[in-house]
Amino acid sequence: MALQAARRAVEHRTRLADLFPWTKSPLVIGAPMRVFSGPAMAVAIARAGGLGFIGPGETAATSAVDLAEAGKLLNEKPLPTSVAGKASLSASSAGLLPVGVGFQVWNGNLASAVDAVSTHRPCAVWLFAPRDGQPQIDDWTAQLRAASPGTQVWVQVGTLREAVEAASTADALVLQGAEAGGHGRTSDGIGLITLLPEVADTLGETGPPLIGAGGIADGRGAVAALGLGAAGIALGTRFLAATEARINPAYQAEVVRASDGAAHTGRTHLYNHLRGTFGWPPQFSPRGLLNQSWADQEAGVSFDELKVRHDAAVKQGGTAAWGPEGRTATYASASVGLVRSVDGAGEIVEQLHKEIDGIRGLL
Ligand SMILES: Cc1cc2nc3c(=O)[nH]c(=O)nc-3n(C[C@H](O)[C@H](O)[C@H](O)COP(=O)(O)O)c2cc1C
Repeated sequence: MALQAARRAVEHRTRLADLFPWTKSPLVIGAPMRVFSGPAMAVAIARAGGLGFIGPGETAATSAVDLAEAGKLLNEKPLPTSVAGKASLSASSAGLLPVGVGFQVWNGNLASAVDAVSTHRPCAVWLFAPRDGQPQIDDWTAQLRAASPGTQVWVQVGTLREAVEAASTADALVLQGAEAGGHGRTSDGIGLITLLPEVADTLGETGPPLIGAGGIADGRGAVAALGLGAAGIALGTRFLAATEARINPAYQAEVVRASDGAAHTGRTHLYNHLRGTFGWPPQFSPRGLLNQSWADQEAGVSFDELKVRHDAAVKQGGTAAWGPEGRTATYASASVGLVRSVDGAGEIVEQLHKEIDGIRGLL
């Protein structure tokens, strides 16, 4: 089974390379992180031969604004006409923007998403976190496909059950391991090293391409995911430390500073609530760095008092907000200790490819 899955992953890599002809195989993907993954980062990733997703914005209208900005950046400086020896456009990608866009389904606005996608025609959309499971994903998929034929619809899932449900409609499945930063499964998630191969075996010949996500920060994690049956690799936390990320410098510095994700990250809704975000479906919760708000909560401080301290810290900014003594949300992966420098998003993609090639050569 393992060899069959590996062969399928290789076929799927070819399929992805045909669909996204400006990319280098294996496909390196910038995950759509809410607000942090903006158009500049998605375009920088595309220029380096990867696929960058724009994250959901502050409001439903932001996706269209961000996609328009990506289009403008690409008009001003088009992608190289040839990447990795291939023409950067093909019949299948003609007329599509070489960046993707992510939508959070539980509180997303489908009408705005349809508008943004039909106007700007991204090459792919990435759906995540339905409140009501697969029927809601099916609804979004059908409407987005009708709005922009040719746009690939990817669905991020974190369990075998979700993968099986989404497999027949998604053009690709992003398998999110429990290591991932940001929101993931609250209690039924599992590490990528077991999720990926079991999904690959269960879906078999007819399954869509599988993308590995969660805890991948360099070429070692990428090669591991490819070996497990991934056709491509998606990274979030590593791109928080990209020069193009839309992130507060103190948040970014904390991602670079922090280590030992097992000890220093955890899943909790505390930071959502401190920031005034309520209503996430209970099956999802975010992984982030545990700071002073967490310590105070553990020590019995009331939520109202935590909120007062949080708001004052955010007002102050810097290490009062983000850092070991900080108080606000610093969502990041279990792999945070592997993120050690701020680099251009394009350099991150190029470095990954170099490491993937080098490590494969040694195995
Ligand atoms: C700060 C942050 C914000 C995120 N926001 C989103 C989001 O809005 N939508 C989404 O589908 N995934 C989001 N994710 C999860 C990513 O899609 C992906 O699963 C994760 O980053 C992969 O794990 P990694 O962080 O270890 O690379 C976010 C992740 C992080 C770290």
